[in-house]
Amino acid sequence: MISRVSLCPHGPEVSRLVYGTWRVLDDTDTATTESLLKRLHTCLELGITTLDTAEIYGLYKVEEFLGQTFKKEPGLREKFEIVTKCGIYVPCEFHPDRKVAHYNATAARIVKSAEKSLRLLGTDYLDVLLVHRPDWLTSADETAEGLNKLLKEGKIRHAGASNYNVHQFDLLNSRMDQPLVTNQIEFSLLHMDPIYDGTADQCQKLGVKPMAWSPLAKGALMDSSNPAAVRLHVKAAELSHKYGGATLDQLAYAWIMAHPSHCLPIIGTNKLERLLATAKSADIKLEREDWYGLWEAAQGQSIP
Ligand SMILES: NC(=O)c1ccc[n+]([C@@H]2O[C@H](COP(=O)([O-])OP(=O)(O)OC[C@H]3O[C@@H](n4cnc5c(N)ncnc54)[C@H](OP(=O)(O)O)[C@@H]3O)[C@@H](O)[C@H]2O)c1
Repeated sequence: MISRVSLCPHGPEVSRLVYGTWRVLDDTDTATTESLLKRLHTCLELGITTLDTAEIYGLYKVEEFLGQTFKKEPGLREKFEIVTKCGIYVPCEFHPDRKVAHYNATAARIVKSAEKSLRLLGTDYLDVLLVHRPDWLTSADETAEGLNKLLKEGKIRHAGASNYNVHQFDLLNSRMDQPLVTNQIEFSLLHMDPIYDGTADQCQKLGVKPMAWSPLAKGALMDSSNPAAVRLHVKAAELSHKYGGATLDQLAYAWIMAHPSHCLPIIGTNKLERLLATAKSADIKLEREDWYGLWEAAQGQSIP
């Protein structure tokens, strides 16, 4: 059973692995409420109770799809913690007037987006609302005003950020009535920036667990034309027996979870059998030399 953890000292309880919904409308054979319902039940059986979504997913259609799926089973929504995001606006069928993709983290826009998320998801609270990306044109005071208003009204229980650098996170945090509970960042064996750029260290300092998006590098980890992925496959084959037959994807999730920031990988598969297989990764405790061995295989060189 996947364990439960506190996202931060004052934060919500979440599951150690999170199920991501970015791609749920991508494949015609799995883009049905019946198929998603099956995966949601599998999540619950495994102990994955935290769902990640966003206003923009599926070009603004995923939240509604999730809401339709929840509607099929009264009480289902309450079994999950919902993390959603707002702030990215791109030209789409709902807004023919919108010509240029842009970020908007103004107070009014955040409130409007969160209220739309509540309506589409068919719920009266969001467990966590993240600002999807830093909006360079909006002050931290202005962004915090929107988040603080939603917190005060109980429409969101917690607020956080995504893709914020250390300074942006610090700044927004300094304007919040209630501290930010996570920074959702890209982190995988093929994208290690967070361990070099200070974001993972900042999370440790604040006791805030980051969430890792694209933990398999959007599937590139399984791409046999990618030299780093090929080296990682060789390394995973070498380690597999020691870790009970673990596969590269399981080792890749375990590699992320081993980082002392206690990062939470967000699983992106639409395949039931792959979702089931993720559970094993939470039991893998990588030994030091094996963690560095995977780092070495990914980088194609030894540590400096
Ligand atoms: N905050 C942000 O800016 C941000 C950005 C991107 C994503 N996210 C979040 O992060 C979540 C995960 O991102 P992601 O979908 O890119 O994750 P990922 O795990 O890196 O990639 C998932 C993709 O890899 C494929 N894949 C190939 N082999 C796989 C295997 N053995 N196991 C699992 N998947 C395999 C999947 O295809 P199949 O479906 O066929 O298995 C799927 O297309 C998203 O759903 C979203 O919630 C957040």
